[in-house]
Amino acid sequence: MMTAVFSADPATGCRPGAFGNATHLICRACGAHSPLGPFYACMECFGPLEVGYAFPTITHAEIEAGPKSIWRYAPLLPVPADISTFRSTDPGFTRLVDARQLADDIGLRQLWVKDDTGNPTHSFKDRVVAVALSAARELGLQVLACPSTGNLANAVAAAAARAGIKSVVLVPENLEKQKILASAVYDTTLIAVHGSYDDVNKLASEIAAEEEGWAFVNVNVRPYYAEGSKTLAFEIAEQLGWRLPDQVVIPVASGSQLTKIDKGFAELIKLGLVEEKPYKIYGAQATGCSPVAHAYREGWDIVQPVKPNTIAKSLAIGNPADGPYVLDVVRRTGGAIADIDDDTVVANIQRLARTEGIFAETAGGVTVGVTAKLVADGLLDPDQETVLINSGDGLKTLDAVADRVGPKTTIPPRYEAFTEFWKARG
Ligand SMILES: Cc1ncc(COP(=O)(O)O)c(C=O)c1O
Ligand SMILES: [Zn+2]
Ligand SMILES: [Zn+2]
Repeated sequence: MMTAVFSADPATGCRPGAFGNATHLICRACGAHSPLGPFYACMECFGPLEVGYAFPTITHAEIEAGPKSIWRYAPLLPVPADISTFRSTDPGFTRLVDARQLADDIGLRQLWVKDDTGNPTHSFKDRVVAVALSAARELGLQVLACPSTGNLANAVAAAAARAGIKSVVLVPENLEKQKILASAVYDTTLIAVHGSYDDVNKLASEIAAEEEGWAFVNVNVRPYYAEGSKTLAFEIAEQLGWRLPDQVVIPVASGSQLTKIDKGFAELIKLGLVEEKPYKIYGAQATGCSPVAHAYREGWDIVQPVKPNTIAKSLAIGNPADGPYVLDVVRRTGGAIADIDDDTVVANIQRLARTEGIFAETAGGVTVGVTAKLVADGLLDPDQETVLINSGDGLKTLDAVADRVGPKTTIPPRYEAFTEFWKARG
């Protein structure tokens, strides 16, 4: 059995065990190692860094005895062993729904919906923010911040409130009203920026370079933040009885979530926590912002930035940081990436609601609609067990369905009026 190796780099000044079984940062472009610290770009080639580990033996029993949150997977994350004693939103442990009626509707044999609307701020972003918050604390950073397409802002504002630290969230001014309010309510410093998400992201990078003590969760502590999405993979495997599904469909904005679900599956195999088997990873985008789907279809290794124009605002990143890595994962596993237009997005929000009683935000409509499209195009095998990620809550994007659904009638409060309507309805 290997023993856990703790960050011993005096340069970072971190307490022993600050990052659990994580041992170093590794460049995804050139493979060079960096010490654990507030680093996010390779010192050799400026490539993006990700977390590397020396895992001890980890058993199902150990994990199952842990808390009913992402912290049951603490040995697989860059967090200290005592992480659950700190104040966080304790996200995760969301339901895996056996979606039989949606499966029938799409023509799939077995479909599961990983329903991440059950998180504290109703999106998968609570997972990544909880891990970023831990890194920020261990690195001695005092302000939690982010550029966001909406859900991340909600998660950062709530997590900072819970931890009792300051937060600053930057969002494009044209975001959905519900998402703006669901950040502002936590009394965060919410800043609306004239411009697109890509403009906001660039501004955040400039601030991060200048201000000391700030943890921009998806910029300068991005390697730690991104690890939080592995918990989606861990939960899916555990909920399936410690085995991997055949196919997973994942919404893509920056592409971080998709690449980390793949990393999570690979780690489970490596640790012997699931049996090794092939699995296919699929990406979902809205046509109005589909740079990765476009690159996939063209056979490109790089992603050409676009100007987003879609109602799926949470996925409206025109210059996705992890785009090339999404292409790698999808091609390596034999999956695909597809996109659907906004009308189809709305129709698929309704489809999921009607068939499974789950109200997804626009990103969920994208994922459901792309799943159906992939089946229709013969790219997704209808006989293989499939999981789709529902990453966000429909209550935050109400305008998407506002023109499509509503009362079937309005009547005076009299029984005859009701029966008249009921009979006419047939
Ligand atoms: C609801 C929802 N789903 C999916 C994503 C995509 O995440 P990523 O940037 O990791 O690709 C986002 C990102 O903002 C989101 O808000
Ligand atoms: Zn490098
Ligand atoms: Zn909700």
